[in-house]
Amino acid sequence: MPLVNTKEMFQKAYAGGYAIGAFNVNNMEIVQGITEAAKELNAPLILQVSSGARKYASHTYLMKLVEAALQETDLPIALHLDHGDTFELCKSCIDGGFTSVMIDGSHHSFEDNVALTRKVVDYAHERGVVVEAELGRLAGIEDAVNVKAEDASYTNPDQVYDFVTRTNCDSLAIAIGTSHGAYKFKPGTKPQLRFDILEEVEKRLPNFPIVLHGASSVVPEFVEMINRFGGNMPDAIGVPEEMLRQAARMAVCKINIDSDLRLAMTATVRKHFAENPGHFDPRQYLGPARVAIKEMVAHKIKDVLGCDGKA
Ligand code: G3H
Ligand code: 13P
Ligand code: ZN
Repeated sequence: MPLVNTKEMFQKAYAGGYAIGAFNVNNMEIVQGITEAAKELNAPLILQVSSGARKYASHTYLMKLVEAALQETDLPIALHLDHGDTFELCKSCIDGGFTSVMIDGSHHSFEDNVALTRKVVDYAHERGVVVEAELGRLAGIEDAVNVKAEDASYTNPDQVYDFVTRTNCDSLAIAIGTSHGAYKFKPGTKPQLRFDILEEVEKRLPNFPIVLHGASSVVPEFVEMINRFGGNMPDAIGVPEEMLRQAARMAVCKINIDSDLRLAMTATVRKHFAENPGHFDPRQYLGPARVAIKEMVAHKIKDVLGCDGKA
């Protein structure tokens, strides 16, 4: 099956009250771990590439890895640019075969965000590619940009209808209290998301797919494992999975997960070296890391997102 865009996936997810997992990919083991889980569970999938990932692995290698995954799985897979920050970057990914791009104009003024998003949408739609936009600003680290908590801002529901009708974007990422990275909530506090904002957005944009960034749960077992085997991570708190289930039942159709992949991989490699200090064949430690990614992704698909069996 060739790459698909997210149109049909999102329509089905909205109607069915579940969400599609959008997992960040950087190398072969990550692509394999994610796609093997999706294949076993017959789940639709979004593989997403940040500009940092594209610099690290190169466009061509990532395309070929995803091509191999399509051949091996025969699943509906969308290839998505995560946090595109310029028209040129989005254009390059569209021209190079991506089926979905995000133009993240959330750091600009409302009017500049509208203009930039509209420009990308016009270019993308002529080529059958869909566009995710963002309103509101998440805290945390994306690529080299570190948005401090005080500079983050919730999405204003009064702006979403105007934004979506003027830009003609296909999905909208909103800020309701999640953030990028492993440190999402203050230790000792209860994680909270603004579901009231999501509800207001849903009322103003009926049947429109919403995207949740910064949605890793920061699986405690992995943080504990990293620290047990020589790491030094301070208290890391992610989004409780029950909140992701709630979002998936609502208008959220795409849930972005990257940090949990990183934690799974790092924890497994650390454990492997602690237990096998003499090993030096990369297959000996990357193999188990790939299995850990597969198991974590399978859990997300089955027990959190609810997209198993929906391919
Ligand atoms: O939102 C950011 C993603 O986790 C991608 O991270 O830009 O370091 O590849 P990266
Ligand atoms: P996490 O850091 O919570 O995994 O978020 C990833 C993300 O939003 C990618 O765009
Ligand atoms: Zn993000």
